Amino acid sequence: MPRFLSIVFIFIIAYNTAFAGEGMWLPQLLKLLNEKEMKSMGMKISADDIYNVNKGSLKDAIVHFGGFCTSELISSNGLLLTNHHCGYGQIQSHSTVENNLIKNGFWAKTHQDELPNAGLTATFIDYIDDVTSKALLGVTPTLTAAERQSIIDKNLTAIRETYKLESYQNVMIRPFFDGNQYFAFVTTVYKDVRLVGAPPESIGKYGSDTDNWVWPRHTGDFALFRIYAGKDNKPAEYSKDNVPFKPKHFLPVSMDGVSEGDFTMVFGFPGGTNQYLPASAVTQVLETLNPAKISIRETSLGIMDKYMRQDEATKIKYAAKYATIANYWKKWIGESMGLQQTNAVDKKLKYEADFQKRLAPDSPYKNLLSDLGKLYKDIDPYALANDYYSEIVLRNVDITSYMGVLRRLVNAYEKNGEKGYNDMLQRVKDNTAGFYKDFDSQIDQEKMTVLLTMYVEKLDKKFVPDFLQRENLGMNTAESYDQMVKDQFQLCSFTSEKEALAILNLSPDKAVSAIKSDPMYALAAGWADFYSKEISTPYNNIKRELDLKLALYTKAQMEVFKEKRFYPDANSTMRVTYGKVNGYQPKDAVTYNPVTYLDGVIEKYIPEDYEFDLQPRMLELYKAKDYGPYADKTGKLPVCFIGSNHTTGGNSGSPAIDAHGNLIGLNFDRVWEGTMSDINYDANICRNIMVDARYILWVIDKYAGAGHLVKEMKLVNPKKVKKSKK
Ligand code: ARG
Ligand code: GLU
Repeated sequence: MPRFLSIVFIFIIAYNTAFAGEGMWLPQLLKLLNEKEMKSMGMKISADDIYNVNKGSLKDAIVHFGGFCTSELISSNGLLLTNHHCGYGQIQSHSTVENNLIKNGFWAKTHQDELPNAGLTATFIDYIDDVTSKALLGVTPTLTAAERQSIIDKNLTAIRETYKLESYQNVMIRPFFDGNQYFAFVTTVYKDVRLVGAPPESIGKYGSDTDNWVWPRHTGDFALFRIYAGKDNKPAEYSKDNVPFKPKHFLPVSMDGVSEGDFTMVFGFPGGTNQYLPASAVTQVLETLNPAKISIRETSLGIMDKYMRQDEATKIKYAAKYATIANYWKKWIGESMGLQQTNAVDKKLKYEADFQKRLAPDSPYKNLLSDLGKLYKDIDPYALANDYYSEIVLRNVDITSYMGVLRRLVNAYEKNGEKGYNDMLQRVKDNTAGFYKDFDSQIDQEKMTVLLTMYVEKLDKKFVPDFLQRENLGMNTAESYDQMVKDQFQLCSFTSEKEALAILNLSPDKAVSAIKSDPMYALAAGWADFYSKEISTPYNNIKRELDLKLALYTKAQMEVFKEKRFYPDANSTMRVTYGKVNGYQPKDAVTYNPVTYLDGVIEKYIPEDYEFDLQPRMLELYKAKDYGPYADKTGKLPVCFIGSNHTTGGNSGSPAIDAHGNLIGLNFDRVWEGTMSDINYDANICRNIMVDARYILWVIDKYAGAGHLVKEMKLVNPKKVKKSKK
């Protein structure tokens, strides 16, 4: 190849890897920053079709689901599509051993059969304002972290007051670029969201934890809900008189599917990323925090798994809990692997050397990186202890986290007397019911024994409260905590709902004194106080300094690398990411295709297996090749596909949208090697995983016989239309 040609070639590759897929962009800024690139990648609609506050646009079909997932409207009657794993809590809560919706699936035949879900919300973004200058009014570079925050908090309160809102609207102001910009989001929240349909877990959760975060994937991870509104189409509390919501926009569903190289866009509410961290922070994730969290969760999962395999009722009880703990356990493993494989720390160090080189001799940023490095060293032991405490006491051992709920009740009493207590009581009772529904004291006791031992043995002694140290308990240096924890559970008056309610139904003064004299309560409360004093306070003191410097570093990077296009870290606000349908090479000599088929579902089938069992109907339909209109050109039924869209947790349930604005798939995961994209996006191996829309339609129509739901949607053939026009 002639020399000049190869240079051009290298430039094109470099350009492609630098931009392809990276970024979670603000929908209102697409016109300014992204439209040109999106069109060059194949998009046929305009930025205005995606976000427009004056007419219905794509954004009006995108709904924040329960505040933790994304969903989208796919019919004029408020039909909402999201992931099976996003609706899992609801599906589980309607399930019993006799009527097990997790196992058998659920399909409402009529609107009357749709199941209400207390507490579930659907949130729309009405409009977005840039409020940076008002938010940062009076903020100067010399302020301390605390001074800065107090000025900003006051400014935000003042900004909030300028909004004239309807009773069902909220305004939420969020920092971007680590507090260098602020945007206000005006939202409308619907509160009557009902379950319409869910496939059995042998489809919706196929491959379960073995396949989670993994490609090739064969999961039909979807569920259907419906938003209900008052007769005026406005948000209303649940009532059987509510009617299906009429949206400003809903997504048509494409029957044409995808091919490698097709433009894709994912629209949703990504939760959190950290793209602009220094190398010292990535090292801490890799060497300190991920290994600790991974081993704690591995231990906890092992205990749950043992009991769940023995008993069907326990399996249902612990299903959602197990899946939640397993999810990030596995993600962190993949993240560490990816960071190592792509030499993320070295890459960051090179970038930092470049940053440093570009600074003027008198730049205020001269010592920024070394200051950050020092702060990360200082915070390291506290960050570790902080993770140990929150993982063990708040997340993996249930009884201690429930004691935290009781603590709020005690505090309310001590602060505001009987009134405080009574105001709080109903919430605590609701919490109590939810807690015991999924609680088994034998499992929890075993978890507490093993995890407490880990806490004591892995952390520096200064992070272990006196009353948990072996010598103070009269134990030998290596003695197990078996007996101690056993006694705690035996003496505890809160190991069953009946006991707990007996106490909560006493008069406030009697209830509070019974709670306070409970040994488990005393242990949890003492531990919480110790944590606050010895761990979280020093941790937060350093963290405040660190965050201030990080904000400065983000600002500095934007000033120093003028040629780079910056996008803000995810923060649960609405974002658009775009890329292409694209396979990848996870390692030498291994290449992954971008699409999986039903044939692969059948290849993975293991009769009676915990994760890979299939129902007979699936096997029959496969044998008969009964794919209806949902097969692709080759006659096979597509199941999942991957693309180079930059997504993260919270993007679950986000629509994958084609060049014309139609739904082609449903985002639900990322590939394992690429989960480090939260810290270090790499276009070569970062891929998001989507269920093909045609698989969703096939399951609803052919598998479940719920064709009435497909009829409600608007099916389109954008590729065929294009051809016939020519
Ligand atoms: N990894 C996906 C996400 O982060 C799916 C999780 C649910 N599935 C599971 N097997 N736990 O949410
Ligand atoms: N499953 C994730 C979620 O619940 C999406 C996967 C990811 O983290 O990208 O949002």
